[in-house]
Amino acid sequence: MAKRVVLAYSGGLDTSVAVRWLTDELGVEVIALGVNVGQDGGEIDADALIARAKAAGAVEAIVVDARDEFARDFCMPAMRANALYEGRYPLVSALSRPVIVKHLVAAAREHGADAVAHGCTGKGNDQVRFEVSTRALAPDLDVIAPVRTWGMTREDSIRYAEARGIPITATKEKLYSIDDNLWGRAIECGEMEDPWAVPPPGVWSLTAPSTTEPRDLVIGFDAGVPVSLDGATLPLVSLINELQSAVGSYGWGRLDMVENRRVGIKSRETYECPASLALILAHGDLESITLERDLAREKSRLEPRYAELVYDGLWFSPLKQALDAFIDDSQQHVTGEVRLHLEAGSCQVTGRRSDASLYDYGLATYDAEDSFRHEDSAGFVRLWGLSVETWAARQARLGG
Ligand code: ARG
Repeated sequence: MAKRVVLAYSGGLDTSVAVRWLTDELGVEVIALGVNVGQDGGEIDADALIARAKAAGAVEAIVVDARDEFARDFCMPAMRANALYEGRYPLVSALSRPVIVKHLVAAAREHGADAVAHGCTGKGNDQVRFEVSTRALAPDLDVIAPVRTWGMTREDSIRYAEARGIPITATKEKLYSIDDNLWGRAIECGEMEDPWAVPPPGVWSLTAPSTTEPRDLVIGFDAGVPVSLDGATLPLVSLINELQSAVGSYGWGRLDMVENRRVGIKSRETYECPASLALILAHGDLESITLERDLAREKSRLEPRYAELVYDGLWFSPLKQALDAFIDDSQQHVTGEVRLHLEAGSCQVTGRRSDASLYDYGLATYDAEDSFRHEDSAGFVRLWGLSVETWAARQARLGG
């Protein structure tokens, strides 16, 4: 039985109640760990979070700023893989869990804890990501999931908190379940549990339209990583945040989809991901001129698999690691610029250029500068179709 537990602490109702529940019901000491992955634009009041955790009964509370690490080591590999789960979702929540687990494990080591805990329910993907990642990094640590075991409804939890003086801001009718970070925002539940229901306008915050004047925005990439906006070099986190507000202000970057959770449930999800979707759009476009054809095709076959692994909690796994090596190697020439055109509700690529471009004007043009060897084509095409020609002559005629 665990004695000291590091709990992934958000400051919300469930994790605040979990602090006390773990302490009282399991008799453990709780160390609350808040990880800043850019939620609420990264504006986390660390002192307030620590005070809340201690008021709930934590023996220790820590807040770490993991924004740079999250952007560099988690969002970027996923972006370089153009990772979109089921072809659409840029893995916002799925990417943050492994970085949180890294810090949970580090805190457990530092504070001599023998278990980690999370506030996920038994129905979602996030429990899978927390637990599988912990098993991969620290198989000796126990994982405790109080929300999955305590059997309290939301009202029960509110009553539990009120009876014990645990500070909460939750009200009885909480409508949505929201998870956000640098890479975007996920909004579920409430009336959107009916997949036919139109998401109420109030759910959108990163993509509330506020700009109508069209504009162009140029993203510069170096070896597959965005480094500049309109020629100005920016640190990664600032670049993502700036892109978030620039693109989001045109009301672009929303997703409304029914996705397949790892646990077998279909779930209606809405997302707003202006920065991550714009980056994947631009990055994929730059690859169209910088990746050789066969490399590009093979990479595009692996991308959906990469997204699945991340979604399914296998960030720390041998296949994901091997795919990272492949993707890393593929990115050495993905350096250049992509122009995005923004206008109300739309974000489109209108140009791309690179010193390493494989686009050869002389080969492509129909003008006088044409350098293509036209005489090579006749023999090539003849041989390309030779087996079909033979089949047509011998078998197609026989029918069947
Ligand atoms: N469905 C998304 C995913 O599995 C988002 C989950 C958001 N989590 C939450 N607690 N609202 O990645």
